[in-house]
Amino acid sequence: MKALILVGGFGTRLRPLTLSLPKPLVDFANKPMILHQIEALKTIGVTEVVLAINYQPDVMLSCLQEFEASLGIKIVCSREYEPMGTAGPLALARDTLIDGSGDPFFVLNSDVISQYPLKQMMEFHKTHGGEASILVTKVDEPSKYGVVVMDELSGRVHRFVEKPQVFVGNKINAGMYLLNPEVLDRIEMRPTSIEKEVFPKIAQENKLFAMVMPGFWMDIGQPKDYLTGLKLYLESLRKTHPEKLMDGPNVLGNVLVDRSAQIGDRCLIGPDVCIGPDCIIETGVRLSRCTIMRGVKVKRHACILGSIIGWHSTVGQWARVENMTVFGEDVHLSDEMYSNGGVVLPHKQINTSILSPKILM
Ligand code: GDD
Ligand code: MG
Repeated sequence: MKALILVGGFGTRLRPLTLSLPKPLVDFANKPMILHQIEALKTIGVTEVVLAINYQPDVMLSCLQEFEASLGIKIVCSREYEPMGTAGPLALARDTLIDGSGDPFFVLNSDVISQYPLKQMMEFHKTHGGEASILVTKVDEPSKYGVVVMDELSGRVHRFVEKPQVFVGNKINAGMYLLNPEVLDRIEMRPTSIEKEVFPKIAQENKLFAMVMPGFWMDIGQPKDYLTGLKLYLESLRKTHPEKLMDGPNVLGNVLVDRSAQIGDRCLIGPDVCIGPDCIIETGVRLSRCTIMRGVKVKRHACILGSIIGWHSTVGQWARVENMTVFGEDVHLSDEMYSNGGVVLPHKQINTSILSPKILM
């Protein structure tokens, strides 16, 4: 079985992290986002994954070989020279996706995190006999997503409306599809959107079916949602692999720490914290609801709340970082400074406090 992951898109909403790496390679819970998906695909027997990519191909390509070797799955790149949208890439990869078996193939958005119920999706797909299956989930703010109006019992989709201006419903497209090869006959070789141009038509012909997703789901393509996604992911890890989480007197709730990270005495860490490889967390540090990426140093008595600290950055002693602060790669905040919602581009030294949310170029 084959799968295609939509990797393109500039990831502007996840800047400044995406100034250093393409969005799918940005770490989530100590693993490049896309690896969570490739692993899930491998588990259900996918043997070849096509990455549809149009942005920073060189970085992506060099990571591919590493993933192929570590996971034992064939990974190929389908390179676009202009952004082809969310459907165009399928036309471009047509020859790879169709292998004569007539099997359906998976298509995944690269920025969603969930328990990937792909096995259940395959069973669902067999039962309805339509052309395409999509996963849906309920959210509070449906206008940011593709909204699906469906028949609860059969799963048949009546309407698919991408980013509706008026309320249509609260079940949204979770960005995971299982498509029969004939769907490819509907897609022209040009930049085009699967959500706006393909799904509404299949729905009109009563051949689009939706399955409500069990478990958690989050589009982690922007910082606030990234941290919410981390909370949900860690909650689910607590149920499935509690041994992967850190426990101890200085830990509150769910905390994921890479083995190579060093944690000093008298820290208080958690809930919902992820600490990457080679991090140094000195004495008396307070961390809550945050991600600390590879190679970061947090000096003593610093406090980081609700923020993301990019690779190889430093937070000075007695510094306080909070309110959706996002540091890009290699940002250094001096001792005793405060960051209230600062979004700081890579390679910066910050010597004055950031008193209100703003972008520092
Ligand atoms: N190859 C390629 N080329 N990929 C692209 C392109 C492109 O031109 N444009 C976007 N993508 C990829 C993105 O990297 C992402 O993985 C996926 O397609 C969806 O694009 P986003 O930009 O993240 O879309 P969205 O989050 O606003 O909306 C989509 O996801 C929602 C769920 O998170 C839609 O599919 C919605 O219907 C859905 O609800
Ligand atoms: Mg998205």
